[in-house]
Amino acid sequence: MNGDDNRDTGKWPAAPAEPFGEGQPAEGEIHVWRASLDLPQDRVRELERFLSADELERAKRFVVRSARDRYTVARAVLRHLLSRYVFAAPADLRFHYTEYGKPELAHPATSIQFNVSHSHGLAVYAVTADVPVGIDVEYLHRRATMDRLKIAHRVFSDREYNALASLPPYRRDEAFLACWTRKEAFVKAIGQGLSCPLDQFDVTVDPRDPPELQATRWDALEAERWAMASVDPGPDYIGALAVPARNLRITRWQWDHEHSG
Ligand SMILES: CC(C)(COP(=O)(O)OP(=O)(O)OC[C@H]1O[C@@H](n2cnc3c(N)ncnc32)[C@H](O)[C@@H]1OP(=O)(O)O)[C@@H](O)C(=O)NCCC(=O)NCCS
Repeated sequence: MNGDDNRDTGKWPAAPAEPFGEGQPAEGEIHVWRASLDLPQDRVRELERFLSADELERAKRFVVRSARDRYTVARAVLRHLLSRYVFAAPADLRFHYTEYGKPELAHPATSIQFNVSHSHGLAVYAVTADVPVGIDVEYLHRRATMDRLKIAHRVFSDREYNALASLPPYRRDEAFLACWTRKEAFVKAIGQGLSCPLDQFDVTVDPRDPPELQATRWDALEAERWAMASVDPGPDYIGALAVPARNLRITRWQWDHEHSG
């Protein structure tokens, strides 16, 4: 059930400058990309030309400029990195959104699947050859506005809440976020996002335990079909990914903004 739990945060090599050859990612492989979203203003303006009209419209709706710029950079990077797999220009890609808002590639026709998460100036992207994938990242030092245990009591399963409550208080913040990112990675992989009741399935809670889907209330065999892994985007972040597959092989890449534009 559990996949590669490679916690080596130093292993985010720069990707080769050229697009990948055909057949990438290989079957059973997940490419995980990490990108910084904070760029100088003039660079952000340059990247706007890769976005579609609806993406530019959405960017305009962000009231806070930093949020608008980060959205713009995240979309431009998404377009550039996907274009390496599907051999189309970044601005020519078209996205389709599922009923729950999950973006998928509509043009060009492809079996490539992806998912995106961003937090505090950092984005992570997961790309697979043909299986759904979910990824989630959270900044570790965001000040909690509510007691984590109270939130966990409301939204996590009983098993997860009990696991969190059994940890010493000084370990609970990180464990809450470990559990949260594992759960979000799963609900993003199945495409439902937060429309999926979070108390209807269990994941491991302790960050020292490998990420794992332990059980779902709707199918006794579901958990066996899934693998999870840590994303480990750096010391200030925590992240997880989920795929309906076994034996994960994860390759990590650092996005180089020299390759956008
Ligand atoms: C998806 C969701 C879990 C995101 O959580 P979050 O922690 O705020 O944000 P993250 O940074 O981790 O992920 C956001 C990204 O997930 C992707 N995403 C959006 N909806 C998604 C879904 N249902 N499943 C998987 N991925 C989704 C998008 O790429 C989005 O980034 P972008 O809009 O900038 O491209 C949450 O917002 C949600 O549940 N949304 C669903 C809302 C819904 O049901 N809408 C229906 C009408 S559109």
